[in-house]
Amino acid sequence: RFEGVEMTDSNQAPAYPMPRARACPFDPPPGLTELESVQRVRIWDGSMPWLVKGYDDSRRILSDPRVSNDVRREGYPHTSEPFKALRTKGVVTFDRMDSPEHERQRRMLTKDFMVKHIEQMRPKLQHYVDELMDAILAGPNPVDLVPALALPLPGLVICELLGVPFADTALFQRCVSRMLNTKLSPEVVMDASKELHDYLENLVRASETEPADGLIGRLVSNQMANGELTRTQIVDMSLLLLMAGYDTSSNMISLGILALLQNPDQLADLRESDDPALTANTVEELLRYLTVLHMGRRRLAMEDIELGGQTIRAGDGIIVLSDMANRDNTAFAGDPNELDIHRDARHNVAFGFGVHQCLGQPLARVELQIVYSTFAKRMPSTVKLAIPFEDVKFQFDAQIYGLDSLPVTW
Ligand code: HEM
Repeated sequence: RFEGVEMTDSNQAPAYPMPRARACPFDPPPGLTELESVQRVRIWDGSMPWLVKGYDDSRRILSDPRVSNDVRREGYPHTSEPFKALRTKGVVTFDRMDSPEHERQRRMLTKDFMVKHIEQMRPKLQHYVDELMDAILAGPNPVDLVPALALPLPGLVICELLGVPFADTALFQRCVSRMLNTKLSPEVVMDASKELHDYLENLVRASETEPADGLIGRLVSNQMANGELTRTQIVDMSLLLLMAGYDTSSNMISLGILALLQNPDQLADLRESDDPALTANTVEELLRYLTVLHMGRRRLAMEDIELGGQTIRAGDGIIVLSDMANRDNTAFAGDPNELDIHRDARHNVAFGFGVHQCLGQPLARVELQIVYSTFAKRMPSTVKLAIPFEDVKFQFDAQIYGLDSLPVTW
């Protein structure tokens, strides 16, 4: 697949990913600004996929039927060696397949994530957030919001959705964070995946003998019973929902609260407003500004594609930079490098675009709306970061951008 690429290109192509600037940890790596809108980069395995960073070009590629998202194809630009091992030998989930199989499996879940269905969960989610906030306000001050709020809430929500015991969230959390860490060895990542796989398989087997509530139970009684899904496919689907929904939501909670604490006027606007539209807009703007899936949407060209004055050849890898697309000033009014909860950010691409666009976005939106607005309203207005901003530990190397801890005081 490297035929036709001159050696000089390979020597000159900049390495990707690039480091973020510690001084502006909310911003994408400054080196990305220097790049052409469509250009080759070099990744960990020496291959040279194309980076696409403009808003319009990003949406064009992500909705182009000539690109594949099948991770098992030769030339797919994987994020790291362990993740390649995990995705090609371990977990084979529909988010990394092409249609018709992608569409077939995704369709079995669309009803569970419809806005109407998710809105019915709102009172329950509000109850979870209120209970966590009660414990925070009654507990020690300062408090670390990662274990007190950002981790348990998505855990509770996913357990509720899948129908698995909340007591087991520590196991999910440990396995998922290992599976998404780009710095661990392939063996450690595969072990974590196996542990979670075995756990979920036991749950599926249990609901085969005793019908259970929740999504897993429903898939077993309907799709497995009528032969549409095998046991392994149900386990893999559950694993995908855990991987896709846990760290993403958790990191959006912690990073989003940190971004609001760093912009106290906007936190005050949220506290004083009773307008649900402002809360919804705050979520869209934080999704745009933070783009926690910060290692690009990976694809493979199946035919030659002309884009931004370049020809992406069939067999070339493509990395679509949603974090840069979300900072494109042709798409977002004002200065997109500033957080502005009053900006119209509904068209952001933090949930991706096209056929693989996030299935869980209605759930993530409701969860984030409740958590940011309840935090703003229930925490005393004196709330602030308990350590200097320079000492906050960001997870620069994780597949999903986030925080190790978030100590706050009031
Ligand atoms: C796909 C982001 C929460 C389930 C995606 C994609 C993005 C994304 C960018 C597209 C991947 C691609 O095109 O390669 C997020 C963010 C979330 C979040 C930022 C939280 C704020 C959730 C939740 C769930 C979920 C809560 C479910 C419990 C999925 C699934 C896919 C997906 C199943 C694969 C869809 C497909 O390939 O058809 N997510 N997600 N996500 N997400 Fe989310």
